[in-house]
Amino acid sequence: MKSVKTVFFCQDCGHQSPKWLGRCPSCGLWNRFVEEDARVRSTESARDREFGSEPCSIDAIDADEADRTSTGIDEFDRVLGGGVVKGSAILIGGDPGIGKSTLLLQVLQKMADAGLKVLYISGEESSNQIKLRGCRVGAVSHNLMVLVEVSLEAILKQLEVHKPAVVVIDSIQTMYSSVYSSAPGSVTQVREASEKLIVQSKKTGAPVFLIGHVTKDGSIAGPRVLEHMVDTVLYFEGDAGHSFRIIRAVKNRYGPTNEIGVFEMREDGLGEVKNPSALFLSERPKGVAGSIVTASMEGTRPILVEVQSLVSENSFGIPRRTTIGVDHNRVSLLAAVLDRVCGYNLAGHDIFINVAGGVKVTEPAVDLAVVSSLLSSYLKRPVESRTLACGEVGLTGEVRGVGHILSRVREAARMGFKRCVIPKSSTESVSMENNIYTVGVEKIEDLVEHLF
Ligand code: TYD
Ligand code: MG
Repeated sequence: MKSVKTVFFCQDCGHQSPKWLGRCPSCGLWNRFVEEDARVRSTESARDREFGSEPCSIDAIDADEADRTSTGIDEFDRVLGGGVVKGSAILIGGDPGIGKSTLLLQVLQKMADAGLKVLYISGEESSNQIKLRGCRVGAVSHNLMVLVEVSLEAILKQLEVHKPAVVVIDSIQTMYSSVYSSAPGSVTQVREASEKLIVQSKKTGAPVFLIGHVTKDGSIAGPRVLEHMVDTVLYFEGDAGHSFRIIRAVKNRYGPTNEIGVFEMREDGLGEVKNPSALFLSERPKGVAGSIVTASMEGTRPILVEVQSLVSENSFGIPRRTTIGVDHNRVSLLAAVLDRVCGYNLAGHDIFINVAGGVKVTEPAVDLAVVSSLLSSYLKRPVESRTLACGEVGLTGEVRGVGHILSRVREAARMGFKRCVIPKSSTESVSMENNIYTVGVEKIEDLVEHLF
């Protein structure tokens, strides 16, 4: 009698083990092993994976930038590095209800308008539901085909028959291959489905967009290996309380990463936001202590965001540091520097920091704005509302230069700012800007006199 071989997979990183383990030796997470059926693939499926190509000299290969197709949505093209590359696989992750299906339906509609035959494959919604959404966002083109299917084999068959120019899989976790008996969404199934679909797209040159669910901790559900298999990984950010959405590239074989696209969820789908700074600053209070604006580089584009802080006296001993949108450790560090270098008693205060609008700022250039807003709240003195601060702060309180200072200052000038507080070392590079006044600071001790 032939016994069915089962193995255990870590549902997070895809580590394989013959027996159940409490802690994954590869990624270190607990309780992620699930038993799955992983019988050896038949030789037939191995042949399916063959490209059947011969080695050839690299100068004989013709490939150029024209291999990129515009998606018709500028903000989306920007994240992709200028359009979709032929035969590429793009994974899009994001919380449920954030707008993944809506965006890709809109993208497909634009591409269909441009004359391409495109296919939207859904394993989550019925064709009626897709049609209703399509009507809402204006996706009703004849070239846009819809297929409701979860069987991988059936999908591959349909792809052979219809040869669409672009394919969307909504979502990869619902796809199911009959080769394996494990449940849809398990490591084996997700890996199998994506592998087959990626190979198919490389063979035919039709780009494939895979929509991925995210787990509670924000990573794409299923194996981390999925991220290694695709060419581009995009994440949708934004929270339920705000209507804007940010798409960020975290991996891109054909373009820069950390480029973002900004969208707004409207009645008729996702609309592009051409001027994100204006959006993020739209509800800013004027003339209050604790608020200052900084310019953060998102890819090649500076975006102005408001940093707010609240410093309040603490009477219970352990001071709290709560941050939203900036790194928690970074704020603790900056508070300690302020304490030590300027002699303020921040250790006896609770600190709450928020980047308004739910944006996340990860670069160190935000330091000077964090310090400024802390000072402003602590001293209860508002910073003039058309003042911007950006720079990195070191452990001894020195203000260090940051990259792209010129584009940051220009963006500030464009948005009507009058004064920029920047690192002293950077002032030379912006000396030619005459419609904005720049102040260089060397140490945070000097900050107070320049800020207020
Ligand atoms: P959806 O694309 O279904 O999210 P996902 O595929 O990421 O799970 O987005 C659904 C949400 O978007 C839902 O809460 C309603 C909202 N929405 C709008 O506000 N306007 C629209 O035009 C559409 C289609 C959806
Ligand atoms: Mg969806």
